[in-house]
Amino acid sequence: MAEYFGRDVATNVGADVSASVGSDVGTDFTTEITEAVVDSFAGTPDPRLRGLLGALTRHLHDFVRETQPTMEEWEQAIGFLTATGHMCTDTRQEFILLSDVLGVSMLVETLNGHRDPRTTESTVLGPFHMTASPPRELGADIDLMGTGEPCVIDGQVLSRDGTPLPGAVLDVWQANGEGFYDVQQPDVQPPGNGRGLFTADAEGRFRFRTCVPSPYPIPTDGPVGALLGATARHPYRPAHIHFIASAAGHAPVTTHIFVAGGAHLESDAVFAVKKSLVQDFTQTDDLSLAREFGVANPFRHAHFDLVLEPE
Ligand code: BEZ
Ligand code: FE
Repeated sequence: MAEYFGRDVATNVGADVSASVGSDVGTDFTTEITEAVVDSFAGTPDPRLRGLLGALTRHLHDFVRETQPTMEEWEQAIGFLTATGHMCTDTRQEFILLSDVLGVSMLVETLNGHRDPRTTESTVLGPFHMTASPPRELGADIDLMGTGEPCVIDGQVLSRDGTPLPGAVLDVWQANGEGFYDVQQPDVQPPGNGRGLFTADAEGRFRFRTCVPSPYPIPTDGPVGALLGATARHPYRPAHIHFIASAAGHAPVTTHIFVAGGAHLESDAVFAVKKSLVQDFTQTDDLSLAREFGVANPFRHAHFDLVLEPE
């Protein structure tokens, strides 16, 4: 008999077997419970909901049969989920964070994303896109405090066939050079620091100044942080800048660029790194380019084109 975590699968049905003894009618819930629960959803009018609940039941029951939790472990799991719910507020979504660290957000994102290799890959939105980015002129600096190494980001928004998309809109947000978003430090950073809403020019080109972002830890002061601690996982995300690019007649893309060569690219706490999104932030020593970009020389420079899928 298979043994998992030291317990015998056949003997640990976890229910009172005697309840069905002596009766030849009704369901034996100890052996037929999975199908009984699936059948209980048979009248669900929405077929998608019916399918989801059926699959959830089967997978959840298989998980329980495989891992054979003790009552204490079951209570601990309920306590964990309860604490996760209690941590949620209008500005803090611990369940999404849990989904993130379990790789579920990234899986859902990728399964729903378009797969055309000519278009820019997507990645998770994350919890810090919670305030509207301030509209800014092309070329503006989104680093209002000068906390990090100056850099210029430029690129072009294009359709899948390479046609430029004039007037495309780029929503950009990032943590500062010390690894904090403005909303995490309301007493330190001005609102909108590290954020900008840009409209691309007549050729779909965009440019802005900022600081090179730093790796930062996802929030660890809740149950998800406790989970990472208990499993000896680090909470860091590699340095990145978030983008949502949109243009008329095209599907928007939610993505990041990651700083090539940075720490944690191979162990992102939320599994969101895709190779195509890792970009060089090239050390550039060029006075005339620095003048053109309006930055002090030398500076770092990343070029990133965003290619959108026509709707
Ligand atoms: C972020 O990149 O902002 C992020 C994404 C997922 C979880 C936490 C933070
Ligand atoms: Fe982020």
